[in-house]
Amino acid sequence: ENQTASQHGSNEQWGTRIGVILAVAGSAVGLGNFLRFPGQAAQNGGGAFLLPYFISLLVLGIPLCWAEWTMGRYGGHHGFNSSPGIFSVVCRNAKARYLAVPALLIPLVIYMYYVVIEAWCLAYAFSYLNGSLMLGEDAEAYGSFFGSFVGSGEGQNGAAFRGESSLLYFVMITFVINFIFIYRGVAKGIETFCRYAIPLMVVCALCVLVRVLTLPADKVNAGLGFMWNPDFSALLDSKTWLAASGQIFFSLSVGFGVIVNYASYLKKKDDVVLSGLTACGMNEFFEVCLGGLITLPAAFIFLGAAAGDQGTFGLGFTALPNVFAQMPAGQFFGFLWFFMLFLAAITSSLSMLQPVIAFFEEGFGMQRGASVSLLGIISLSGSGFVMYFSAGLKALDTFDFWVGTFLIFVLAMVQAVIYGWVFGIEQGAKESSQGSHMRIPTVVQYMLKYVVPVYLGVIFIAFAWENVL
Ligand code: PHE
Repeated sequence: ENQTASQHGSNEQWGTRIGVILAVAGSAVGLGNFLRFPGQAAQNGGGAFLLPYFISLLVLGIPLCWAEWTMGRYGGHHGFNSSPGIFSVVCRNAKARYLAVPALLIPLVIYMYYVVIEAWCLAYAFSYLNGSLMLGEDAEAYGSFFGSFVGSGEGQNGAAFRGESSLLYFVMITFVINFIFIYRGVAKGIETFCRYAIPLMVVCALCVLVRVLTLPADKVNAGLGFMWNPDFSALLDSKTWLAASGQIFFSLSVGFGVIVNYASYLKKKDDVVLSGLTACGMNEFFEVCLGGLITLPAAFIFLGAAAGDQGTFGLGFTALPNVFAQMPAGQFFGFLWFFMLFLAAITSSLSMLQPVIAFFEEGFGMQRGASVSLLGIISLSGSGFVMYFSAGLKALDTFDFWVGTFLIFVLAMVQAVIYGWVFGIEQGAKESSQGSHMRIPTVVQYMLKYVVPVYLGVIFIAFAWENVL
């Protein structure tokens, strides 16, 4: 084992304890919190969605998060930073590395479309600065601004490549920023970025929240009412439960090898239990308090029930700008909002790239420069593809369902079984308590072994039953 340790694994480590927590929280807090969460809630029962959502957080999200932190740090000591390497030492079986293939593919594929939406955020922030998004009260104007920017109209495929919009430039800038920080490495790149970006995000988001909630009270109440009006019949649909657990995984960045990779750069005596919990807590604050009260509610405040027909992207990028245009100092708040989204998205997309970098370096013995270039070429091609076919925004939603909900769900199940049955909860308890003032409660260990796989299995079978068979 020690020999493998010196052969594989980089010598990279996080700089400070708060830095790691901020990096993991940065990975977690992203477009998922501000756009995906309210979108999922609106489509799956409104206020009723919160019930399966919080059950998933307690039963799946936090327990699996602890399992990932624990296995990741363990893998790191044994000289591995990539999910395949970590899975193989955790399972004490070299073949287990194949189980980790989805843990590389999922973040890579999500990155390919996520970064394009990240670029939309940058473009929108910029458009507030130069005033081109202050289009008055005409709702249609925002739709056509978005449509021509993204090239999402009928027959518009490839618009960005024919120079019909500036999308291509914004995507390029976004790529360059991501790859500069990835190239600088875990502590100097990712950690440094997160330490500045996250406090800035909190300030921007709180400003916008105060602004939205101090709009005329009757409108605010009606808007929140539309959005959160519970439809309890949704609870009888297995898709609601699948969506809720998928959202928990996506949002916490749990279930696809991102946290395992980040945790592998911890020192042996670094705490995992409290850090994991803190990162989850920060994510929930951003998701429920900020995402749940700003993005879509604001859209509903001004547009009423009609906002519900626009889909997640329509809401975030057409309804919301209309809201900003109608509020005092909207140009300033619109800029703050989309700039905040852009920062939140970068701290997440960095965490999708790092697991793949670690794999290239560890699996193929590549140097930093080579691995970063190779990943750049692969992901840029993928994003080009996404951009070219952006005419069908529905396609993006469908894609996000299969990769961002369904596949993540499957991989989460694999991880729970590995932790509960192969690594073993006794070893898990011993390993996780090292360096921690807090222990993972024993009941959570048993939940990981029995409840999590059964819970996931039941939802999975019910979903397959209703939709595929
Ligand atoms: N958790 C991020 C968000 O909420 C998304 C993410 C997905 C991050 C996959 C890393 C890996 O936006």
